[in-house]
Amino acid sequence: MQELFKLSPDNIPLIKKASITAAEAFMDDPSTLYSIPDEGKRANLHYAFEYYIRTSIARGAEVYLTSANCEGVAIWFYSEARSPYGLLSRIGNPLLPLRCGWRFILGSMYEYRLTDRIKKLYAPRPYEYLALLAVNPVNQKKGYASALLNPMLKKADEQRLPCYLETQNMKNVKMYNYFGFEVVYETSMPKSNLPEFMMLRRQVSSFKPVHDRIWELAFPYQDKRNDTGHAEVTLHFARILQALEKGDEDVIVPAIMLHDIGWSQVPDRMLVFDRNASKEDRKRVVTSHQQYSVELARPILEKVGYSPALIEEILEIISQHDTRKGFISKNDGLVRDADKLWRVSKRGVAAAINRGKKDIKEPFRFPGHGGNRKGYYYSESAKRIDSKEIEDRKRETGSNEQ
Ligand SMILES: [Fe+2]
Ligand SMILES: [Fe+2]
Repeated sequence: MQELFKLSPDNIPLIKKASITAAEAFMDDPSTLYSIPDEGKRANLHYAFEYYIRTSIARGAEVYLTSANCEGVAIWFYSEARSPYGLLSRIGNPLLPLRCGWRFILGSMYEYRLTDRIKKLYAPRPYEYLALLAVNPVNQKKGYASALLNPMLKKADEQRLPCYLETQNMKNVKMYNYFGFEVVYETSMPKSNLPEFMMLRRQVSSFKPVHDRIWELAFPYQDKRNDTGHAEVTLHFARILQALEKGDEDVIVPAIMLHDIGWSQVPDRMLVFDRNASKEDRKRVVTSHQQYSVELARPILEKVGYSPALIEEILEIISQHDTRKGFISKNDGLVRDADKLWRVSKRGVAAAINRGKKDIKEPFRFPGHGGNRKGYYYSESAKRIDSKEIEDRKRETGSNEQ
């Protein structure tokens, strides 16, 4: 594939051409149909892209075209460069509301605010941000998307940088998966079913093989309390927290994978959710699941050849992950933060409701209060993720309860 063409700020004819390419690529996108319902105004979409491309270049973005024919265009921002596309840029052009409608402008502003917050939460800096990828429909499926993505992904790999993007189109999620991006956050635009996916391509694109092996060995013991997804969701939070707070991957990842496998060995494990159960009984099952987790985890870690020092550190964390007062280390804090975030996650709340919480708002109460309690979370990142998750759960259920 040929070299990419880097767009310079003074190349007005090509900026215009790139804007038309982007507008054609997004013309039938669900987000465009939603934000510009009027067909006549939709024909003006290229003005919005022209403005976007110009402000992006002015703000330090790198804009690449497949060639001077402009089959496709990509915009990349380096997180430590100037702010990527501030709020004002969305309304900075006085003609845009006229051309594309206020619904588009206000929708863009809302989306910007939402995604900017999530980006701060989920993208460990520094990173490369893919702000736009567009291939003209007549040129799609010809390898132009790969041609636009691969050079920057290669550069990011060489510099050990993660890459981040947002998309509102489910179809694109699959394509980005192929390039190593994973969905780290999913939400929807207000008063619509339009999804918004935030995707991260980690600097190390997947798990270390040894961690894959631990996951496989632990898998048969996971999620035994009608809490499908607990292992996966807590692992997801743990990896985010590990990256944001610079914890030790070799401790945090196995510890979170193995922390709850002991529940599989506790016959009366559901008692922990029974409000009529005595405090002593609840304490008994919680303590024994921790012990069983340690007993099951040790041979797994030994089998994959983990070092004795790391095994001890991991087992120490697991041995009191639900009962310890205070935190013994950063790794301990981050593992337990990830575990607690389950309660406010989409699947965690769904599991609580499935277990019979009658009041749909009820699951928010404890984690909401817990999250605000001093010493509940170890890290600031976990606190921020907690409030964002609660905000989303409330929005999803239409609850305004504090
Ligand atoms: Fe546990
Ligand atoms: Fe857990």
